[in-house]
Amino acid sequence: MNPNRLKYLDAMGIQVYVPRLRTDTTPVEVMASDQVDTSEVSLSKSESLEISLDRMDWLQLRERVSGCTQCSLAESRTQTVFGTGNENADWLFIGEAPGQDEDRQGEPFVGRAGQLLNNMLLALGLSREHVFIANILKCRPPKNRDPKPEESKSCKPYLRRQIELLQPRIIVALGRIAAQNLLETETPIGKLRGRAHRYADTNIPLVVTYHPAYLLRSPKEKSKSWQDLVMAKQMIND
Ligand code: URA
Repeated sequence: MNPNRLKYLDAMGIQVYVPRLRTDTTPVEVMASDQVDTSEVSLSKSESLEISLDRMDWLQLRERVSGCTQCSLAESRTQTVFGTGNENADWLFIGEAPGQDEDRQGEPFVGRAGQLLNNMLLALGLSREHVFIANILKCRPPKNRDPKPEESKSCKPYLRRQIELLQPRIIVALGRIAAQNLLETETPIGKLRGRAHRYADTNIPLVVTYHPAYLLRSPKEKSKSWQDLVMAKQMIND
C-alpha cells in the first residue's frame, strides 16, 4: 500500500491491521443532476427557472449560477460557489453551503473541513480530480448560519441540473443539511446514515454520512463515516 494512503486512513481514524501470518506487508483494511420560457407567466420564479435549466449544458449552468439573484444571499456573497471536479465523475459529494474560505475562493470545501474531505477521498483511493463536489447552496449564508428553506428551494434546480448532467453512480450527502434536503425529510442524520437511499425520483444511490466539519469536532465518529464511505464504494462496485 502507498505509504501516503496509510496517512489518509490515519486522518480518518482508521486502523490498518497487518495479519500476523502473512509474509508480505500488504495490509488488510478492516471496516470496513435557454432560453427563459416567457410564456410561463403563471409559474413562480423558481419554477420557470427550472424549465429553462433543463436545456442547459455545464457552461450555461455555471453562467446562470454565477449571476443568480434568486434569493437574498446574492447581496452578501463575494461570489457563487458552483462546485468543482470531474464532470464525468462517478462520485458526487454534496455539502451544505460555502463558508468564508469557499466564498472567497469560489471553490467548495477549501477550508479545514475540506482538508479532511480530501483525506477521506484519498483513503478511498480517490482525489478531487476524480469526483465532483457541490453544495446544497451556491452562496454563503451570512455568519455560516443554516440555510433557510427558501434559500435551499431557490438553489435546488441548480443542483438538480448538475446531477442530471453528471449522472453520478453514487451521491454522498455530507451532513444533516445535505441529507435532509436531498431526501426531503426531517429524519435525524443518525437514522439516515448506514443505509442506502435513492436520490429523488432517480435510481441514483445516495449514502448519508457525517459532515467533515462535524468529524473535526467529534473525531470518534470518523469510524462511522468510514463505514458509510466503504458502503458507498461497495455499492458502486456491485
Ligand atoms: N462546508 C460545506 O458544507 N461546504 C463547503 O463548501 C465548505 C464547508
